[in-house]
Amino acid sequence: MSRLSPMLTLWLLAGCFGSEVLSATFTFSNNCGYTVWPGLLSGAGTAPLSTTGFALQKGESRPVPVPSAWSGRIWGRTLCSTDSATGKFTCATADCGSGKLECSGAGAIPPATLAEFTLNGAGGQDFYDVSLVDGYNLPMMVVPSGGTGKNCSATGCSVDLNGACPTELKVLSMDGKQGVACKSACEAFGDARYCCSGAYGSPDTCKPSQYSQMFKNACPRAYSYAYDDKTSTFTCGSSPDYAITFCPSPGTRRHPQRPMRRRRAHKRTAEWCTRDCLTAEEPCGAM
Ligand SMILES: *[C@@H]1O[C@H](CO)[C@@H](O)[C@H](O)[C@H]1NC(C)=O
Repeated sequence: MSRLSPMLTLWLLAGCFGSEVLSATFTFSNNCGYTVWPGLLSGAGTAPLSTTGFALQKGESRPVPVPSAWSGRIWGRTLCSTDSATGKFTCATADCGSGKLECSGAGAIPPATLAEFTLNGAGGQDFYDVSLVDGYNLPMMVVPSGGTGKNCSATGCSVDLNGACPTELKVLSMDGKQGVACKSACEAFGDARYCCSGAYGSPDTCKPSQYSQMFKNACPRAYSYAYDDKTSTFTCGSSPDYAITFCPSPGTRRHPQRPMRRRRAHKRTAEWCTRDCLTAEEPCGAM
């Protein structure tokens, strides 16, 4: 029995420490006034995560370790319950259709606010965005910590758009009284122009629409349509950790099923919030 060669020892150590140092922690926090059930989907060919779905009570935080070079999507399900007769778990928004708490490889059924990640991609950089291309269901922010680079910064949509969503895109609660999600124009109308498909399947031919522009005005850092890359893709070097926060700012925390008092409801839905708020200390003017 020979000892390990020095080279092999070095290689093994580098391997261990390499993955140790490069793996990230995603810390989920729920600042909403209601429970959120995060869903996690790993991209094809990436290492699976320790969880693909769990409950996050209001005020709760939970760290999830994420392997280096992971890519995938994260979203928040709302208004979930287990059917007492069938035992089936379903959510009114962003359900993954698994019938269970864990999504187990299933993605979000739109409309859903999505956070998308490619860790350790081209040039060793992380790429991430928050997307409203598949619609919107709740406010969500992604904030890197410990990363490097000019646009290694917070992104997301901290605004509650469910009330302000145009009627033709609005998804209503069971009792029909409350907006619980907001469809993309692509989903609502199936038009190639909105979906950036067919003849409109390139950045040159697919332009922002009145609908995507409403999303963009409310949430300037989030993807509002398929070719919105320039202002919506963020990059970090040095493998940061990420905080993923649902309802980051005050005023977006009410329960989606609990109707607001009339006067305030009118005031809030009268106009879209024109400024995205990046921190909880910076509440959005109109909201
Ligand atoms: C961030 O940097 C990348 C790479 O330089 C660039 O493509 C992207 O447009 C930048 N994103 C923002 C939001 O400025």
